[in-house]
Amino acid sequence: MHTRTVATPIPVLIPIRRPALELSADLPRYWYGGEPFATHYLDALSSVFPDGEAFFVRSVLHYRDKIDDPELRRAIQGFAGQEGQHSHQHDRHLALLSSHGYGALARANRVADKIMRFSNRHAPRFSLASTAALEHLTALLARRILAADARFTQPMDPRMAALWRWHALEEAEHKAVAFDVLRRVAPSYLLRVLALVVNCMSLFVEILVRTGYMLWVDGELGRRQSWSDGRKFLFGSEGLLRGMGREFRAWFRRDFHPSQIDDGPLIAEWRERVAIGS
Ligand SMILES: [Fe+2]
Ligand SMILES: [Fe+2]
Repeated sequence: MHTRTVATPIPVLIPIRRPALELSADLPRYWYGGEPFATHYLDALSSVFPDGEAFFVRSVLHYRDKIDDPELRRAIQGFAGQEGQHSHQHDRHLALLSSHGYGALARANRVADKIMRFSNRHAPRFSLASTAALEHLTALLARRILAADARFTQPMDPRMAALWRWHALEEAEHKAVAFDVLRRVAPSYLLRVLALVVNCMSLFVEILVRTGYMLWVDGELGRRQSWSDGRKFLFGSEGLLRGMGREFRAWFRRDFHPSQIDDGPLIAEWRERVAIGS
């Protein structure tokens, strides 16, 4: 655990990469080590990114003109560019999922997109706070994936491993941007706490429902083994969500800032590894 009490500045450089990722139709249905639950849990997460991250970008850009700090304005630019690329690449994965018979994911996204656009128009402060809160979650997940690469990305088909490693690196790079905009334009502690609680609960349910839907399409929904594998994948001794509690709860400290959790060494290591595709 690398927790600091002194905030380090946001990285000046948030590069916009355009990786040539191979996401072809012959990707195995269970691309995560042959495991239905783990694969579909990550499929579910991937399927919400195209519209979800477009929402993040709209939420932050809404306040761009209120930001005078040139460094933060540059960071916003990098953030928007990176999230735009994530939306694009995960949209390609979503198209693949539709072609594999999970068409309801894209249909659900169209409904969610309408709700998020409504939120952007009528609740821009809450939209921004939701973005910052969800960026807290994605940064924790990213850190988990990058720090335990052997556990999380090595069981993946190499094409998917490249997608997740690249995305995780960039989530770590831009993790403070939405938060920094939020604390300038809407620094309410209550808003920040409410946004995390509401979004966390709804995202957890959304991902579980999407995972259940894909298992149902496969005829795996009622299979005990899938669910016990799933419990292990999420909450087992090396589970994806295991051991995140302390960093997750840091959000509730009044003086919290994302850079208090130091991802510098991980970012440095993965910038090189992503660049050479290792
Ligand atoms: Fe992203
Ligand atoms: Fe992000």
